[in-house]
This record gives sequence, C-alpha cells and structure tokens, in this order.
Amino acid sequence: MDSGKRCLISIFVLFFSVELMWVVKGNVVFEVHHKYGGRGKGKAGLGELRAHDSRRHGRMLSAIDFQLGGDGSPTNAALYYTKITIGTPPVDYHVQVDTGSDILWVNCKNCDRCPTKSDLDIPLMQYDLTASSTGKTITCDQDFCDAAFTGPNPDCRAGMNCVYSVTYGDGSRTEGYFIRDYFRFDQVTGNLQTSTMNGSIAFGCSAKQGGELGSSSQAVDGIIGFGQANTSILSQLASSGKVKKIFSHCLDGIKGGGIFAIGEVVQPKVNRTRLVSNEAHYNVVLKSVEVGGQFLDLPTDEFDTGSSRGTIIDSGTTLAYLPAEVYQQLISKMMARQPNLQTHIVEKQFRCFWYNGNVDDGFPVVNFHFEDSLPLPVYPHDYLFEVQDTEYCIDIVLTDKLVVYDLENMTIGWAQYNCSSSIKVRDEASGNAYSVGAHNISSAIIMFEVNLISFLLVIATLLALTKGQI
Ligand SMILES: *[C@@H]1O[C@H](CO)[C@@H](O)[C@H](O)[C@H]1NC(C)=O
Ligand SMILES: *[C@@H]1O[C@H](CO)[C@@H](O)[C@H](O)[C@H]1NC(C)=O
Ligand SMILES: *[C@@H]1O[C@H](CO)[C@@H](O)[C@H](O)[C@H]1NC(C)=O
Ligand SMILES: *[C@@H]1O[C@H](CO)[C@@H](O)[C@H](O)[C@H]1NC(C)=O
Ligand SMILES: *[C@@H]1O[C@H](CO)[C@@H](O)[C@H](O)[C@H]1NC(C)=O
Repeated sequence: MDSGKRCLISIFVLFFSVELMWVVKGNVVFEVHHKYGGRGKGKAGLGELRAHDSRRHGRMLSAIDFQLGGDGSPTNAALYYTKITIGTPPVDYHVQVDTGSDILWVNCKNCDRCPTKSDLDIPLMQYDLTASSTGKTITCDQDFCDAAFTGPNPDCRAGMNCVYSVTYGDGSRTEGYFIRDYFRFDQVTGNLQTSTMNGSIAFGCSAKQGGELGSSSQAVDGIIGFGQANTSILSQLASSGKVKKIFSHCLDGIKGGGIFAIGEVVQPKVNRTRLVSNEAHYNVVLKSVEVGGQFLDLPTDEFDTGSSRGTIIDSGTTLAYLPAEVYQQLISKMMARQPNLQTHIVEKQFRCFWYNGNVDDGFPVVNFHFEDSLPLPVYPHDYLFEVQDTEYCIDIVLTDKLVVYDLENMTIGWAQYNCSSSIKVRDEASGNAYSVGAHNISSAIIMFEVNLISFLLVIATLLALTKGQI
C-alpha cells in the first residue's frame, strides 16, 4: 500500500473509526467490541438518558460553543479539530472531532510513540496528571469503567487503573487509562458571547500510540468522540445536567473552520429524519437516489436497516462505501452527460478526469431521499473536487450544510447554510436563543491559508462496510 492510500485510510480511521475493539490488556479482560456488531449499549444509553431527563429539572442546561479549525480537503486527510481545555491550571489541547467514536482521549506525558510535532503547525501538548491539581485516575471499580466496558470487570482489584485500548481499521491504535479532571468549555451566555464553565469529565490518557496516530502528518493531541455511547463527553455533560444531547456542526467550505455547538438549534430550522435506534453509528433510512431527475433502479432491500444493512450519516467518507451496485449506477448516471470523458484512477481509489468548464453546468445534481421526505441534494461542485487545474475527482464533499444531531429526539437534520455566519441556540436556563458564530482556529494557529475546507458527509451502507471494502 502506498503512503497516499494509507493516509486516506487514516482519514476514515481517525474520523470514523470503522471498527473499534476493546482488547485484552494485562490482567484486565475487556470484551471484544466491534462497533458494527450492534451496540447493545445503545439501549442502555437511551434508558440512562431518559432517567436523566427527570433529574435534569432545575439544573442549568447550557449551550456550548466550540472553536473549530481544520482542513477538510479530501486529498488532505479531511481533518477538523477543536480546542478543548482540561485540568488545573487549564491546558489547551487540539483534538480531532469524530462522530464515529465514543471517547475523548489525549496524549499523556511520556507516552510511547506519541507525535512530537505536527504538520498542521499546532503546538502539541501532553496531559500531565502530576501537574493538574484536579486530575485523578479512574479505577476499574468505578461506574465509568463499567460503562466503558458494558459491565463490571471481574478481574478488577483495588487501586487498579481503568485501562483502555482502541484499535482502528488500519491497525492504528491508542492505549492508556482513564482520568477524571475538570473540563472547561465556553458556555453561550449572549449573542456571540460566551463565558467559561467547567465540569468534571472522564477521558483517556493515551500512553502508547501505534500506526498513523503517532506520525506527524496531521498530528493532533487526541480525538474527541461525538458518538452516541454514554462514555462520550456529550453524554457525560448531559448526565450531569449541564447540556441537552444535541449538537451541530457547519463546516465552512471556503474560509475554513465553521460552527460547532452543543445545544438546541432554533435558527435555522432544519428538516429531520429519524435516527435508527440501537445502532453504533448515526444511521438513517435512505429511500431512493435520484441523479439528474432520474431514480436509480435499486433492489428494494438495498437500504434495509436490518442488522447488516443501513445507511450511515457520518462526518466523512466517500461514495466508494456505497455497495458496488449502487456506486456503479450512480457513477454511470453522473458521467452520462459527458460520454466522451476518459476517467483514470488516482491514489488507487479516486476516479478522476480532465474537464474544462463549470462542473455545475456539465454534471447532474444527485439527490438522496431519506425517510420523512428529507432530501439531501448534492451538487456537482460537492461531489467533484478539483485536485489540480482542470483535473477533477469524484467524491462526496458537502460544504456549507448545518447538520443537527438531536439525540434527545433521535433525529438528524440538515439545511444548506452559510457556515461563516451564525446560528441560534437555546439557552435552557433563561429560555433565550443566542447567536453562536463561526470560528476558525486554523487561521489563528496555522500561519498559512488553509485550502478547501469542507464537510464530508458519509453516505455509506453497513453492507459495504461489513464486506470490508476499505
Ligand atoms: C452509562 O450507562 C451505564 C449503564 O446504563 C451506567 O452504569 C453508567 O453510569 C453510565 N455512564 C455514564 C458516564 O453516564
Ligand atoms: C468550576 O466551576 C465552579 C462553579 O462555577 C467553580 O466554583 C469552580 O471553582 C470551577 N473550578 C475550576 C477548576 O475552574
Ligand atoms: C422533541 O420531542 C419532544 C417530545 O416528544 C417535543 O416536545 C419537541 O418539540 C421535539 N423537539 C424537536 C426539536 O423536534
Ligand atoms: C423543509 O421541508 C419543507 C417542506 O418540504 C420545505 O418547504 C422547506 O424548505 C424545508 N426546509 C429546509 C431548511 O430544507
Ligand atoms: C455568509 O455570512 C457572512 C457573515 O455573515 C457574510 O459576510 C457573507 O457574505 C455570507 N456569504 C454569503 C454567500 O451569503
């Protein structure tokens, strides 16, 4: 495998953790946990959520504004990151945003094979437990550890750390132990105004890295998982009554950065579709695919949501993850308007061609239709990216969409939106709706203009993933 390909695989790994396994570590036995093997925990998580709803009354529910930065161009590993602040005194870390995994982890002091420099030009930090007066290790007998491993660990003995190990699809891995410390965040307190709040959270302290995670290209301090499990920061803040389990992102396609917030979005209104419950990923039901006004002729069971099939919305991947049959039809319909174009393959996976002219005039609009009559229009400039002057490759790259993940009502919705403007989120404590604006920490930290920033929306099916088409 050439390095280009490995790099691209690491996109999916870092962003979407195609497969996550808990492995045997020392004398602590953890169950092997495949993300797509059906997360039994999903149910428990929801029960837990409902239980918390009643406890939540009278508590302060905030909206949180996260700074966002990054470079989402598909050839550049589609990296978005946010700045988080942990510990006393507080230290800032830059962590990759990942809707496909469930824990936050950061590199820990003296970790083995941790990156020491980043091509992103961000200062890399390592969490130092001895330097934070509020940090404590989590032991294997604590509730959080049980939650992380879906049950008590029979081999747990007094004082033993709660150890984790995550292996990603390309063999990249991180392992370490859980810590509890203060987490600071920017609570939305007015229009484009925030103030610092804190909460205690459990997160992974990575002691060892393997594979791409330790390399300097695209290196960040860790990954923040925005998955549905109750080990996520979102779930932890929600269960302590601080926030509602709703988050949204809007990634700026032109300037970079964008909006990333926790809280109920009141403006703009988005149309929604049901999230399939008890699934590891954010699964939705895709009903049909329309290319230039013509519906693809798909077998009716293609988008079934049974245990092995379903459509996933995630913060990134490519059309190549569609089942081969759907992908082929889609490509041939997309290219039908330009019968004379010759395509070639770049980096072993992108189908590319040379084209002079405006792609929006030369290629059809693709419309994915989801349950609840929710369309997702994808324009030629979204699915064709220009790798160099007049050379275009096919990949679904959606910019300027506000995507709202509402885990309270189990829906996901989106709307075409200007991601360098602002949205309004509700402050539950006062009932007011406040504006949250776009940020771009990349431009502050990275001293050069980031190229195309975009939002990758995954439309993949479990079928393709279970077939292992990576
Ligand atoms: C997650 O859920 C489990 C089981 O429902 C519960 O024991 C645990 O306390 C929860 N953990 C968090 C962090 O909310
Ligand atoms: C966290 O917030 C509470 C309440 O606002 C405050 O009393 C406490 O000092 C804060 N702790 C830290 C470490 O900032
Ligand atoms: C979520 O569900 C609750 C109760 O079912 C409902 O009152 C509320 O309006 C819903 N919110 C949204 C944004 O759909
Ligand atoms: C939501 O759906 C309605 C009815 O189809 C449509 O009129 C409206 O424009 C949609 N809103 C968005 C933000 O797409
Ligand atoms: C998007 O919003 C920004 C900030 O409000 C504004 O300056 C810009 O002109 C808008 N872009 C478009 C295309 O409307």
